Amino acid sequence: MTNPNQSAVDFLDTCRARVDVELERCLDRPAASTRLLDAMRYSVLGGGKRIRPALCLAAARAVGQSGEEALTPACAVELIHAYSLIHDDLPAMDDDDLRRGRATTHIAFDEATAILAGDALQALAFGLLAEAPGLAPATRLAMVQELSGASGQSGMVGGQAIDLESVGKTLSLNQLETMHRQKTGALIEASVRMGALTAPDIRPQDLGALTRYAEALGLAFQVQDDLLDIEGDTSVIGKPRGSDAARSKPTYPSLLGIDGAREHLSALLSCALESLEGFGSEAQSLRAMADYVVARTH
Ligand code: IPE
Ligand code: IPE
Ligand code: MG
Ligand code: MG
Ligand code: MG
Repeated sequence: MTNPNQSAVDFLDTCRARVDVELERCLDRPAASTRLLDAMRYSVLGGGKRIRPALCLAAARAVGQSGEEALTPACAVELIHAYSLIHDDLPAMDDDDLRRGRATTHIAFDEATAILAGDALQALAFGLLAEAPGLAPATRLAMVQELSGASGQSGMVGGQAIDLESVGKTLSLNQLETMHRQKTGALIEASVRMGALTAPDIRPQDLGALTRYAEALGLAFQVQDDLLDIEGDTSVIGKPRGSDAARSKPTYPSLLGIDGAREHLSALLSCALESLEGFGSEAQSLRAMADYVVARTH
């Protein structure tokens, strides 16, 4: 039997190659400010696992699409993710100087340029979605709604606000889960749902099952990120180990201990995989991605 992680790694490699060509194309535009465009390119094109685009392409595959129609939403969600990382690293937020194994954007450029690069990436993401090739106008609109909901105050930005307000506090498990679902889960859910929405006639029960998969996986993703902040190796994770503890961030390991966080992670993996029980081999890439997300070392 093929090692599921190896198949996820192969799938991710293929997706990364496809998505990177497209991202490069989207960021090859006339520049009002060369410095701004350089910062946008630096943040997006300088590495990254491309997990969200891969989930978008895998979800399209699970609903019988070729994936071609999912390429623009896959890039759009990665642009939002890149913007969220630039802002997350700023001195006013996590104040980190290392990302993807090199200087964070505000260190490589300057704070104002980093803020503006994030802003411009967000605008670019929605602009791309609005004119996504191969998709009906109603589908584009549905995707804009998905991504804006997942990005804004009830999604990623709201989760980041809770994260910052919670520094030094002990959250209940429920509060911690809400924070994680918003700051990280929402964009992962949008990645999967936008991939699924490329099938115009998707059955509501299939969209429901894929949404449940994504909810469990989105939470699992941040639990593993929290564990890597403690157990990872800075040179492998490409960001400073111990950043959460140094800033007294509430995390799963801080609340449940390392073993408790691990148990929770494995329960979330089971939940993600069970949600796909109604699917056959067409959902194999989604299954492999779930295994990968909980076992990843960076
Ligand atoms: C890191 O996301 C930020 C979180 C939401 C925890 P990734 O681990 O997907 O980061 P890259 O894109 O691969 O650098
Ligand atoms: C941030 O979570 C998630 C977002 C950027 C929305 P973290 O602060 O834990 O992400 P890392 O560990 O810096 O990548
Ligand atoms: Mg943060
Ligand atoms: Mg951070
Ligand atoms: Mg983290």
